[in-house]
Amino acid sequence: MFELKGKQQEVLYLPQSGHGVVCGVAGSGKSVCAVMRAKYIQKLTKGRVLLLTYNNSLINYMKDINNDLDKIDVTTYHKFATRCMRNIGILGNDEILSDSWEKKVLIENAINNVKKLYLNISVLNRNVDFFVEEIKWMQGFGILDEDEYEDVERSGRRGARLLKSDRKYVFQVYKEYVKLRTRVGKKYDWDDCAFYLNRYLKHDIINTKYECIIIDEGQDFTPMMIQSLVNYMKDTGSILYFGDQAQQIYGKGRMSWKQLGLKIRKVYTLDENHRNTKQIEKLANSIRATLDLEIDDGLLSMNSSKEGEKPIIASFKNRNTEDAYIIDKVKTYSKKGSTCIVAKKDDLKHYQSLLRKEGIPYTIIDRNVKGITRTMGIFISNYHAIKGLEFDNIIMPECSDNMFRNNLQNYNDEEKKEKELELSKVIYVGISRAKENLIISHCDELLNIIPKDNNICNFYIGE
Ligand SMILES: Nc1ncnc2c1ncn2[C@@H]1O[C@H](COP(=O)(O)OP(=O)(O)OP(=O)(O)O)[C@@H](O)[C@H]1O
Ligand SMILES: [Mg+2]
Repeated sequence: MFELKGKQQEVLYLPQSGHGVVCGVAGSGKSVCAVMRAKYIQKLTKGRVLLLTYNNSLINYMKDINNDLDKIDVTTYHKFATRCMRNIGILGNDEILSDSWEKKVLIENAINNVKKLYLNISVLNRNVDFFVEEIKWMQGFGILDEDEYEDVERSGRRGARLLKSDRKYVFQVYKEYVKLRTRVGKKYDWDDCAFYLNRYLKHDIINTKYECIIIDEGQDFTPMMIQSLVNYMKDTGSILYFGDQAQQIYGKGRMSWKQLGLKIRKVYTLDENHRNTKQIEKLANSIRATLDLEIDDGLLSMNSSKEGEKPIIASFKNRNTEDAYIIDKVKTYSKKGSTCIVAKKDDLKHYQSLLRKEGIPYTIIDRNVKGITRTMGIFISNYHAIKGLEFDNIIMPECSDNMFRNNLQNYNDEEKKEKELELSKVIYVGISRAKENLIISHCDELLNIIPKDNNICNFYIGE
């Protein structure tokens, strides 16, 4: 059981009704507070509490914080939403297009169909990924009306410029996609469930069984997800949001708290770090400081009381020597707690086979992983799946500049800036997972966002 400290106490005892927003740096105890608050409200009111987060491995992390979560429904937004949509009768069997790959194929077909109607329109020749991301953004922000879309400020899409005069063609692609989707028997995909649920809830009141909804990792919830929760609760219960804009690595862009429907007087902040050593906190802060955050989220982490080694930046001439170093460190660390190798999605297989060759047992972090917090063992994860989790030792291999930047040539300056920001957030998430030891390794030139500063890191030069 945790004894909440400082501002955490204040958050625990926030008013029982209405809305609340808590922003806190990585490791400040947002998830701990979310769980404790859920328990507190449940005991006080004897009602049910809904504790939502973004993915399944975080559900297990929550259950690890307190294993007595009876009467508290800990689940993901998508599970909650689909249950709710079934109950109100707007979702039948197998009506969600759940595979993002299938969605991409349908969008590709939609582009081709629209091209046949409008000849020589250059925006229709843009990469399919642009349309996939744009449609996802429209769905997440609930901008699915043509007139509204033509005028809207596309928050978070600075990295994908689009002329106002071209928007009508993009909207045609969206409409054609929905038509093709309907033709294969799907009414929704994962990105517009929240929009349709919200549209229903805006007009109809349904009986909720929850006294309170608590949202963890709120920065990854789209505006439609948050609005649907606000409309679901109407005025009957409370909503408490926990998040950190610096770690927003799924959707992008944001709306004001007011636009989201959250009625708050102030944003509560948590800035005391309870996870990292002072040395790791210093590196995490140096990256956080470059993120251009809004005032609510602009806080830096403070006061970590744990001393440790400075993070190690290890440089190599080739990948084999880098790999050998990583294996050596994994073996050493395997004697002291949990260790995670964090890599880009495409590189996970490489580290799996490396560990397999050495006969080192490991676990891949995905939705089925249970009980990560207090476990010994070796884990492999990509930067997205590791969100919200923590490990004694973190190894981030292949942090060279070109590994992350090899496909940026075709972007303009503004787009490059946006990509840089995304990258910094991803690296911030990786670094801030480490409780005791952190190693960042690379072959070619080091990722430029990592400070080359002896006061912050120790530099190891390998072969
Ligand atoms: N009051 C406390 N007493 C002791 N340990 C604490 C306290 N609050 C948090 N911790 C510890 O600090 C670490 C970070 O907490 P938590 O995971 O809740 O942070 P977070 O803000 O959710 O981080 P993230 O942004 O990465 O999700 C955990 O190991 C947790 O057990
Ligand atoms: Mg958390």
